[in-house]
Amino acid sequence: MIRNEVLRNMKTRFSCRKYKPDPVEKEKLEAVLDAARYAANGHNAQAWHFTVITTEEGKRELRDAVGPEPEGFRKLAPEGAVWPFPSDFFGAPVVIMISYDPKTPWPDAGAFLAAGNIMNAAQSLGLSSCALTVYSKDVFCTEETAGSRAKFIPEGYELYLTLVLGYPAVTPETRPARRENTETWL
Ligand SMILES: Cc1cc2nc3c(=O)[nH]c(=O)nc-3n(C[C@H](O)[C@H](O)[C@H](O)COP(=O)(O)O)c2cc1C
Repeated sequence: MIRNEVLRNMKTRFSCRKYKPDPVEKEKLEAVLDAARYAANGHNAQAWHFTVITTEEGKRELRDAVGPEPEGFRKLAPEGAVWPFPSDFFGAPVVIMISYDPKTPWPDAGAFLAAGNIMNAAQSLGLSSCALTVYSKDVFCTEETAGSRAKFIPEGYELYLTLVLGYPAVTPETRPARRENTETWL
């Protein structure tokens, strides 16, 4: 198997669910967001937007929009996984919300590829990340929360994914097993 630094980085990235409180240096955050902007995207629309939350106030506002643990949340977890409701964002100092203009081609693909770049770039800088379903999509869908929307999501855009990011307080001894037989070669 060929090995190089990029491949090693991709294979050591993991979804981190416990972070150190240490802030992330601005230049590292800028490097991560710059990597996001180089993701492939439909028709080169680049119609993504990254809302970077580093303040407790910003995190509180987002958490308030979601409210207490939503019903059925635990059912979202894959079998065997423990997904506590991450009301503290797993202690991560940074939250990044990725929204995209839904009027452009394949907006979800652009948002998710940008998320992949963020995760891999973060890993290469000694940071970790995790996607958080409960803070993604429809966060501001109620009447009470609609007022906060403009602060987090540009007009006409839709939220596709929210990530947390920071220095990991844990390193997994093992990674989730990867499925075999997922290829067809012709
Ligand atoms: C779209 C998406 C949503 C996810 N949502 C959550 C989540 O809400 N909570 C969580 O703990 N992990 C979440 N994850 C992380 C996955 O569980 C994780 O990527 C998967 O188990 C593989 O593990 P790894 O990332 O450590 O390789 C999410 C991942 C993706 C791509």
